[in-house]
Parts: sequence; structure tokens; C-alpha cells
Amino acid sequence: MSDVKTVDLLITNIGKCLTLAGPKRARIGKEMREIGEIEEAAIAVANGKIVAVGREEDVLQQIKGANPARTIDANGRLVTPGLVDPHTHLVHGGSREHELALKIEGVPYLEILAQGGGILSTVRATRKASEEELYAQAYASLNRMLLHGTTTVEAKSGYGLSLEAERKQLRVAHRLDQEHPIDLVHTFMGAHAVPDEYKSNPDRYVDLIIEEMIPVIASEGLAEFCDIFCERGVFTVEQSRRILLAARQHGLKLKIHADEIEALGGSELAGELRCTSAEHLMATGDTGIESLKNGGVIAVLLPATSFNLATGRYAPARKMIEEGVAVALSTDYNPGSSPTESMQIVMTCASLYLRMRPEEVLTAVTINAAYAIDRGEQVGSLEVGKKADIVLWNSKNLEYIPYHFGVNHVDTVIKSGKVVVEHGILTTSCPKA
Ligand code: NIG
Ligand code: FE
Repeated sequence: MSDVKTVDLLITNIGKCLTLAGPKRARIGKEMREIGEIEEAAIAVANGKIVAVGREEDVLQQIKGANPARTIDANGRLVTPGLVDPHTHLVHGGSREHELALKIEGVPYLEILAQGGGILSTVRATRKASEEELYAQAYASLNRMLLHGTTTVEAKSGYGLSLEAERKQLRVAHRLDQEHPIDLVHTFMGAHAVPDEYKSNPDRYVDLIIEEMIPVIASEGLAEFCDIFCERGVFTVEQSRRILLAARQHGLKLKIHADEIEALGGSELAGELRCTSAEHLMATGDTGIESLKNGGVIAVLLPATSFNLATGRYAPARKMIEEGVAVALSTDYNPGSSPTESMQIVMTCASLYLRMRPEEVLTAVTINAAYAIDRGEQVGSLEVGKKADIVLWNSKNLEYIPYHFGVNHVDTVIKSGKVVVEHGILTTSCPKA
């Protein structure tokens, strides 16, 4: 008697299946190297979920008599969970290629912002854009993400900076979640910058966020997380604490952009508030690392941002891993500090500049990234009962992906059991899985 009666999709002849099976929590220290490798493997899927995974002979035994509706021969390929991108500024208007020349001339990122450019120029473009325009631009980005192997994405607001414009961004993200195969997790980031109208009195903007924006966003169910840019010249630690505590009172989970450029105390605050995650952490020192560890905060590192800011400054990932902080990786996809949708380039930057081993990198872009957005029970590993979010790579081994950089190594992507990318091409209809 077989255990599994129905199989919609069977993947056979997998050379190496990296399952990331393990404890039901983010992985720390040496656990980040345990990636659950199975050779000569197969995976069976039914109703969008994994129903069997293991050595091919065992899987075939388990599904005996089930008569799979479709079988894919992986041809000895490497197979991993779909990648999870836990930090993006997905929905925005316009682009900022004009900043490239300024950067080359040496104008710092925060200086461009202080002059009313940077984030604030994207705020102007986003306020002007219609919902349809924002939708079309973000949909194209999601397609690029899917083609590069990403199947779950966190999306922040933060280019509206008024209640109406923030709601517009979040509404677009909700529609994308309904209509694009990628699953989205929604974050309110009204505290991404101080808008021009409040430049002379930033505390009034903080009051507006606390008294008007958070209550409405939370009551309308538009966001699950609240994030804030805690940085010199943007929001202070004290303002960050007030906003995050208010968000928590309204039922939102917490994230913080901390120590991106200067270590103001953002990672210490993340630990104190036991935020789900703290992001960037390029300038984080020993007390910050200690605080993240004690607070059980996941460090979401964004090495493509360091690469693109070109300051030569990278987060102290080795120290974090050695101290027992769970590390995740993300694109930080946005039009300024990180205009890329590819988690594969992030994997290369993490290998070369964060000095993370390939196994640690894979853990950081799958299961730890899933826990950083509170989806660790649903995605991030190939285990029975989890969503069938699966990538078949044009490679036999993991190292090849970060090593051979700047090109796309994805062959096939399966999202919630549906084949959405086949031989590197989006399947025509791409229905919501
Ligand atoms: O995560 N640091 C703040 N926010 C984004 C950048 C946004 C932008 O430059 O438009 C970040 O790097
Ligand atoms: Fe960011």
C-alpha cells in the first residue's frame, strides 16, 4: 500500500536535492551549513504542496499507484527550494539612473537625499504615478524575480509618505499578490524618509505616522509588518522606538533598517524590541550583534546594496554567524541603493564580500529568509506539507551559482505546484498558483 494517493507533479532524476530540512526555526551558527542534501532524489507534489521528498526509490515506493498527472525529468540537475527575498521596495515609480554619475563623482548617498534627491525623488515619481502604472512596473519586476528563482517576496511601502500615497502603494502590492504567481508579504514603511512638507518639523511627521497612518493601515489589513529607516538625518532611535511601539500596539510585526551607514543604535533597539528582523547592519558593532542575538532578531543582510553604494563597506556577517545570530540575505530591490531583482547576484556578493560559505548562503536565501518574514512554516525548505516552491538549476552543484556570476542559472521554477518558468522562460499564462 502506498501512502500517497494523488500526485499532480513528480520530479525525478534530481542529481542533488538540497532540502534545507531541519528545525522549525531560523538556523544559527553551524546549522547554517546543514542543507539537507539528498542525492538521486525525487519530489512528489499534490494540491500545491510537497507530499513526498527523498531518495527516488523511496519516493516511488511511497507514491506507488498514484499515477502522476505530470512528470519532469530533472536530468541530474541541482534542485533547491524557491528563493525567498525578505526585503524589497517593490512598488515604486520611475528609476534613478541619473544618480550613477553623482555616485561616480563621489557624492554620498545621504547627501543626495539631503538635497531632496534619492528616496525623495522616487517619492515624487510614486505620488504622480497611477495605480495602473505602479502595477505594471512592479509586475515586470516580479517576472524578473520569478525568472531568477524567487518565489516569495516581501514588499515595503515608503515612497508615498502620506496616508493616501502609502495606501496606494500597499493596494497595488495586494493586487499583485492576488494576480502574480509570487506570494507577497506586506510591510508599511511610512517612516522611510521625512517628506518635504515636514522637513522643518520631522516630529510632526512622526506624530502623523503614529496617530493617523498606522491605525488606518492596520485596521484595513494592508500590512503585516512595520519598518523604519533609523539613520542619521532620517529617523532617530527615539523616533524609531515610538513608531515601532505604536505599530506593535496595532498588531503589526516589526522590522528596522538599522546601521546602514552609521551605527546610531538601531540594532540595539531591534534587540530591545525583539523585532522579527533588522536589515542592512553594515556598520553594526559588537553591542549591536550581542543585542540581535539576545533578542532573537534575524539579521537580513543586503550585500548587493553595499556593492552598489560602492563604499566598500559590508556587514560583519562572519562575526554574526559565529556569535549565533541567524543571518538571511535579500536584494533590497529598490530604484536607488539596489536596483536588482536577482538573488543570484546577492549570492555572489555574499560569497565574495561577506565571506559566507555556499551552504550558509543557501540557508540565508531560503529558510532563514522565510523566517525573517514569518513564513518559515510554509516555505523555505523542501519538506512534506510545505508549499511546492521548487527551483531546478542549470547546474549540478551549489557552488557554481555564486561562482559564475552575472547570468541566470535557473532552468525551471515551480510555484505552489505549478510550473511557472520552463527552460528559462515564463510559461505563457502564469496564473496565480
Ligand atoms: O534599503 N535605506 C533606505 N531605503 C532603501 C533605499 C531606498 C532608495 O534609495 O530609494 C534601502 O537601501
Ligand atoms: Fe531597504
